[in-house]
Amino acid sequence: MKHTTLAGLLLAVSGFTLAAPPAADMNNGKRVVDTVCAACHGADGNTNIATYPRLSAQHPAYIIQQTLAIKNGDRNTGAAVTMRPLVQNLSDKDISDAAAYLTRQIPKSGESNPKENPELGARIFRGGLPAKGLPACMSCHGPGGAGIPGNQTLKDGAVAYPRLAGQHKSYVVDQLRSYQSGQRTNSIMGDIAKRMSNEEMDAVGNFIQGLQ
Ligand code: HEC
Ligand code: HEC
Repeated sequence: MKHTTLAGLLLAVSGFTLAAPPAADMNNGKRVVDTVCAACHGADGNTNIATYPRLSAQHPAYIIQQTLAIKNGDRNTGAAVTMRPLVQNLSDKDISDAAAYLTRQIPKSGESNPKENPELGARIFRGGLPAKGLPACMSCHGPGGAGIPGNQTLKDGAVAYPRLAGQHKSYVVDQLRSYQSGQRTNSIMGDIAKRMSNEEMDAVGNFIQGLQ
């Protein structure tokens, strides 16, 4: 009886410690976004420049993970090298505050071009291409492309499934090509991209751009 109580108490204490990440400082998050990130990603994370990914409503764990990967030089695809020097001097706290601020920004979507095969894109996104062993994108990125938030800190290596809805088509296609070539490394997406033709990447990118 005494044991149960003690174990219960210990559980409660450690549970509390684990479940309480440091509260995000929104003022600092806004400051970091306004002074650093906004130039490329937009003050509300909804840049219209297709080279720069939209970050509004993106999951904080994913923003933190990718910002650190770019900062450390582990992610050096596409134009990521242009971002690196700008985040070089940011602390972990600045990055997590910026992530907390960006995730609260209201997302804006683009539009799918009706001439660029959105039907094939929708089919791939929702059902995959079973004949090629290509899984439905929505099985991990969600039916509306909202993704699945990962572990807040990612310290245990938990996976964050990024939000894709409304992302620029050309950015999506660039990332799929980088996963395919192995320049951007991720075992899940590497396997998926290797099963896709250029036409399929374009179609699904066009569909994702219009998803909201
Ligand atoms: C000089 C322009 C620039 C600045 C400033 C900048 N970034 Fe970026 N960022 C980029 C580019 C370009 C990419 C896409 C890299 C690629 O092509 O893979 C990117 C990618 C990202 C990604 C990955 C997005 C995804 O969907 O995978 C995150 C997260 C990110 N930036 C966060 C930030 C944060 C947070 C800040 C501010 C602290 C910031 N960036 C400042 C240019 C910039
Ligand atoms: C089994 C789960 C899974 C499936 C299915 C899946 N993805 Fe992903 N996707 C991920 C994970 C995990 C990441 C983050 C990878 C990383 O850290 O680089 C990701 C990342 C991406 C990114 C990069 C996002 C960004 O903001 O940079 C794109 C684009 C993408 N996936 C497109 C797709 C498309 C298109 C499909 C369907 C053909 C698909 N994914 C199916 C798990 C999945």
